[in-house]
Amino acid sequence: MKTNQESGFLKIKGGTPLKGKVKVQGSKNAALPVMAAALLLDNGEVHLRNVPKLLDVQTMSDLLVSLGAVVKRDDHTMTIEIEGEPAWETPSSLVRKMRASSLVLGPLLARCGRVILPLPGGCAIGSRPMDLHFKGLSKMGAQIELDKGAVIARADKLVGARIYLDFPSVGATENLLMAAVLAKGETLIENAAREPEIDNLVRALKSMGAAIEGEGTGILRVRGQKELNPATIDIIPDRIEAATYLLAGAITRGDITVKGVVAEHLNALLAKLDEAGIEVINKENELRVNSPARPRGLTVKTMPYPGFSTDLQPQMMALLSLAEGTSVIYETIFESRFLHASELQKMGAQIELQGNTAIIHGQSSLIGAEVYATDLRGGAALVLAGLAAEGETVVYDVHHLDRGYENMAEKLILLGAEVCEGKDNIKARKQ
Ligand code: EPU
Repeated sequence: MKTNQESGFLKIKGGTPLKGKVKVQGSKNAALPVMAAALLLDNGEVHLRNVPKLLDVQTMSDLLVSLGAVVKRDDHTMTIEIEGEPAWETPSSLVRKMRASSLVLGPLLARCGRVILPLPGGCAIGSRPMDLHFKGLSKMGAQIELDKGAVIARADKLVGARIYLDFPSVGATENLLMAAVLAKGETLIENAAREPEIDNLVRALKSMGAAIEGEGTGILRVRGQKELNPATIDIIPDRIEAATYLLAGAITRGDITVKGVVAEHLNALLAKLDEAGIEVINKENELRVNSPARPRGLTVKTMPYPGFSTDLQPQMMALLSLAEGTSVIYETIFESRFLHASELQKMGAQIELQGNTAIIHGQSSLIGAEVYATDLRGGAALVLAGLAAEGETVVYDVHHLDRGYENMAEKLILLGAEVCEGKDNIKARKQ
């Protein structure tokens, strides 16, 4: 796995319809909170299966180690051992690397009664405040102060509370759930996020002995326990990775089967692909996209689950750049998740941006260009566009892809793509 300093590039010769089978990895966004949940143990081990090998997973592992956990990895399994109370001061070097580091806030507050967490700050897709996390924890009796860019949270004992989330934030739901499982009494989280990754966390916590009802309903009822127990936890398949490969099949007008998926997690995408005239066959836990024709343009609005995921908006934009007619994308989750649009324009995409709306005039072809990934999913969109474009595309700064896609270049090559990885981003740019 590469670090930012070692960021490289992907050179793609486009135009080959991708064909074959690809197996989906374990979910990044499910693995990260479940790893943080290990901190809720007094003593003992949590075993995780189907953990993806990704930069963000490594960052969370480094963070847990910095707090006193012992983390062992063996291929796609991970063991996190906790002995006694963890440290409660989180190192800013790790927290600033990844916003999901903030998921240790709830567990550390529950275990240690105090936490110092440098605020992760904004990122390429938006400002991403944590007000809902703080509001919920305050209702549970925590005192939250901001001091020199860090959150200082204290609570002698968290107490159950009725919490209504103004927006079903994924991270806030996860932090509050993890705090509530060790709080005194009952907590009700209303308007909770309903993403499959939340259900995975609920199942993980329940297997550790937590008492939680209402998974998938948007109202979570938690009865706090004195302590939790060791457990073995399975991470669900990564719906965003699976969808990215389905879209790679669609954009190259190929024939790809994605294995090991939970099709139900992708209902919104499947409905939109159907509307675009792209056939996807659902057989047991496999999805096959076989789409020789050009897609039809359509309207997409990103929404909390079960709506269309913001994490697929950039990849969908790449596909719609090649659709027949005009498409419209409304991004309602993040305020600036359109940085990939200007890079797609370098490849001939016709995209107009008006606030959080993108109007895409579909073209019959895209042309290879030198483009820059600015974030994980935006980077994936550029790779998809490069796979479909005429000629050569170079996507720089592909360390963003390593945060969320395990061996993306290798997987694409196995599907017949002409892709090669280059290591020295800076040198390549100068040539
Ligand atoms: N928000 C607030 N206040 C809060 C929390 C969130 O205003 O206290 C806003 C955010 O600024 C954003 C919106 O609510 O505009 C959604 O944020 P949410 O908290 O739901 O997202 P998150 O927990 O920060 C997770 C995923 C993201 C994914 C979003 C939305 C993880 C580790 N990250 O982020 O995944 O886009 O939910 O589904 O689970 C990715 O994988 O590429 C990625 C960015």
